[in-house]
Amino acid sequence: MLVAGNWKMNLDLPAARQLTANVVTSIGKTVHTKVAICPPFVDLDATFNLLHGSEIRLGAQNMHELDSGAYTGEISAAMLKSVGCHYVILGHSERREYFGETNELIARKAQQAQKYRLIPIVCVGEMLAQRDGDRQNAVVEEQVRQSLQGISIASGSELVLAYEPVWAIGTGRTASPDQVEEMHTHIRSLLIELFGQKMGYAIDILYGGSVKSSNASELFARSNVDGGLIGGAALNAEDFASIVKSAESAAAA
Ligand code: PGA
Repeated sequence: MLVAGNWKMNLDLPAARQLTANVVTSIGKTVHTKVAICPPFVDLDATFNLLHGSEIRLGAQNMHELDSGAYTGEISAAMLKSVGCHYVILGHSERREYFGETNELIARKAQQAQKYRLIPIVCVGEMLAQRDGDRQNAVVEEQVRQSLQGISIASGSELVLAYEPVWAIGTGRTASPDQVEEMHTHIRSLLIELFGQKMGYAIDILYGGSVKSSNASELFARSNVDGGLIGGAALNAEDFASIVKSAESAAAA
């Protein structure tokens, strides 16, 4: 199980420090669950220092696909590594929708992340109209295939997928456990096709979209759900800790 908190464009440095300290205290030690927080770029260095001594890992929310150069405002994989990042979220639907990120770009970023030994959390998910038109499986399949172009896998732990239906993000409208399980099973079969049986099973598939302490247990209990990518609820240490606890219980069951 992996539970990652996506803080999005929230929290200035003092607030990020405070939340990190609270998360470290509230979560303590986990046995079956890897935990990560993904603060904004400017908070990464300070939060990494506060994670010292805990097993909580650090992730970034985006990254440029090239090594370095004249790309004003961009952040490279090497920079993320140098401030202690272990993960990087790539292709979040907000980046696809508001910043024009395509599957092809996301694939280049994912390859670049792997080159620097950052674990990409590659996000996929359909829009409401696509779900209403019953096209979610085809849409997500295309995203998975194209966003993972050129990615190679040696152990399965160097790649994470996140299924986040756009209509469930920040809306309070969670996908039902049946909808989540159905899509995760579809993604699992694609990963097995792309990377083989062993690797395909080893890759964690997270669900994201209005995961809360009240619904985490029923989602994490489903097969092929290996954890969550948590937005709003990750901004509250107690809520986030309670979601991590649900992952621990699901893994132990
Ligand atoms: P949410 O966001 O939990 O606030 O719906 C999830 C995400 O966008 O990763």
